[in-house]
Amino acid sequence: CMALMAFMAVSCAQSGMSPQDRLTVNDKKINEIIAQMTLEEKLGQLNCLVAPRGAVTGEQQSTGVAEKVRAGAVGSLFGRHDRDELMAWQKMAVEESRLGIPLLFGADIIHGYRTTFPVPLALAATWNPESMERVARISTVEASADGITWLYNPMVDICRDGRWGRCVEGAGEDPFLSSVYAAAMVRGTQGDLQDDDEILACVKHFALYGASEAGRDYRETDMSPARMFNEYFPPYKAAVDAGVATVMTSFNDVNGIPATGNRWLMTEVLRDFWGFEGFVVSDYNAVGEMVRHGIGDRKAVSEMALNAGVDSDMMTEGFVELAASVKEGKVSMKAVDQACRRVLEAKDKLGLLDAPYKFLRCEEERIYTQEHRAAARRIAAESFVLLKNDDVLPLSSKKKVALVGPLADAGAQYTGSWQGAAYDDCKSLLTAMTEAGLDVIFARGSNMLEDEELEQAACRNRKYVRDSRSESEMIREAVNAARRSDVVLAAVGEPAWMTGEASSRTSLDIPQPQKRLLEALVRTGKPVILLLFSGRPMTLEWENDNMAAILDVWYGGSEAADAIVDVVYGKVNPSGKLTMTFPRNVGQIPIYYNMKNGGRPAKTDSYKRFSSCYIDSPNSPLYPFGYGLSYTTYEYGDFSLSAETMPAD
Ligand code: BGC
Repeated sequence: CMALMAFMAVSCAQSGMSPQDRLTVNDKKINEIIAQMTLEEKLGQLNCLVAPRGAVTGEQQSTGVAEKVRAGAVGSLFGRHDRDELMAWQKMAVEESRLGIPLLFGADIIHGYRTTFPVPLALAATWNPESMERVARISTVEASADGITWLYNPMVDICRDGRWGRCVEGAGEDPFLSSVYAAAMVRGTQGDLQDDDEILACVKHFALYGASEAGRDYRETDMSPARMFNEYFPPYKAAVDAGVATVMTSFNDVNGIPATGNRWLMTEVLRDFWGFEGFVVSDYNAVGEMVRHGIGDRKAVSEMALNAGVDSDMMTEGFVELAASVKEGKVSMKAVDQACRRVLEAKDKLGLLDAPYKFLRCEEERIYTQEHRAAARRIAAESFVLLKNDDVLPLSSKKKVALVGPLADAGAQYTGSWQGAAYDDCKSLLTAMTEAGLDVIFARGSNMLEDEELEQAACRNRKYVRDSRSESEMIREAVNAARRSDVVLAAVGEPAWMTGEASSRTSLDIPQPQKRLLEALVRTGKPVILLLFSGRPMTLEWENDNMAAILDVWYGGSEAADAIVDVVYGKVNPSGKLTMTFPRNVGQIPIYYNMKNGGRPAKTDSYKRFSSCYIDSPNSPLYPFGYGLSYTTYEYGDFSLSAETMPAD
């Protein structure tokens, strides 16, 4: 550092310039802003809050956020997708705060905005980086047309545990594929941050959130550094290497220290080792939650997070109270300046410091276009994974079909748990099949879940109305429909909010009422094709034995229904491959393809004492990582090794 300063002084002296002149225009601009800022205004830039509804109607006047924006005590807002609202907030910041620094507008757009794409776990199953990048690009074009400038995407937490509901948000269990996914998402979102539809990405959740103990959300992760660096860190690093502008912390602790207060992670690994230069935002109230981790009071945890290298505090509002800590010397002015500078740099990268309303154009015509919807349909079909097929698929349109199951007429569920804004428009499979002129008899057959309250929560009330008939009455209707048809299409699985945040499960079975429906359908003797809606690996041994075919359609997004018709009727050949292992039973978890041998590996799936196996289950999964059939058959043969030996490195 000393050498560099000396070098700069010498070279500036030689050129007759001061080091200040050598700064780029942007550095100068940011320096000028920082020089005018009070300590409170600097801390304000670090404050990231939910944008409450009502900036336009004026109801915000009294709830506090507006006052904070006017006082320069907020740097970014998130969670509001309404262009007029965002415009009102931006005007407030620019025209009514002392320094007029524009706000960033964040949003959880992780698989599409209004045009919604398959959930990330499904998107990863395409194994197609072009499709991944295209999803990010279209999401960004649409979100930025509404004024959003910062996507909380990509989520790249490696996960080997289907009990964890958030595995739906990531690309699965493989470090390499997840890294490809991370880079593609960053490229698609940020481009080179020059155009008015290129905005900030945010890789999350740093770090190791997907290894949360027992598949439960918000828990601890205890892991060796070797496993971190080899197996769990690569996707975050790939995002950094691709130039991601921001990083979000995770809720879990890492080897005893909450990630959000973990200096080793946020500074040593992320910045010193990987060279990350953007800003770090905490997850939602993750700073405040360190109190319950047992770290200290609100002041202590805020100090710890800032000192660890977190630049922006989402929702705790602990950073804005750090002036006293600066005076007491617990947080240095330099650390505050640095964090503030990083947030301002991000705003500058977007061009907001010169043109605060740059993204707030009225561009409805760029949203949910025919072109975007066609891409969503194609990519949805590309993500479906054919898990079994006893020669019943593709279906001939001449067949009479009994379409049953609670997901057959619940199009609003197909957008998954982090949908942007389109679920009202989302077509159901029943509608798509009817529009396609297919010969269909529909019967819902069962409700989604046994428990009515849980069902409402899991369906998020998206137009889903529970059927008030008895289970036997509903099943009887479905069985009658099956008897009058050639084949049964059963659209069953998890409603959208049974996956995602705070949706851990101990059973990965198809929910019980739907399973009983399947059993009754099988007893009719008609071939049953299972269309599985899921956001995680499921346990499907009985289904594998009893269904004529199984197609995992995940949550395919706003065009899912037409895409399902495309694949079921053979217009598109299924090509998706699993990116998370499907276990036979929950007891096998964690189960993943790159397990080590150990000293006594089991050579077969049958039980052998003193080898590494179970007494009551094979080791092998039901469907391994990479598995997925198509309508074509392939023969592999004529293998040969390129060499007989392989060196250790
Ligand atoms: C989630 C993040 C999300 C944030 C803001 C948190 O609960 O963990 O993934 O970006 O909320 O909505």
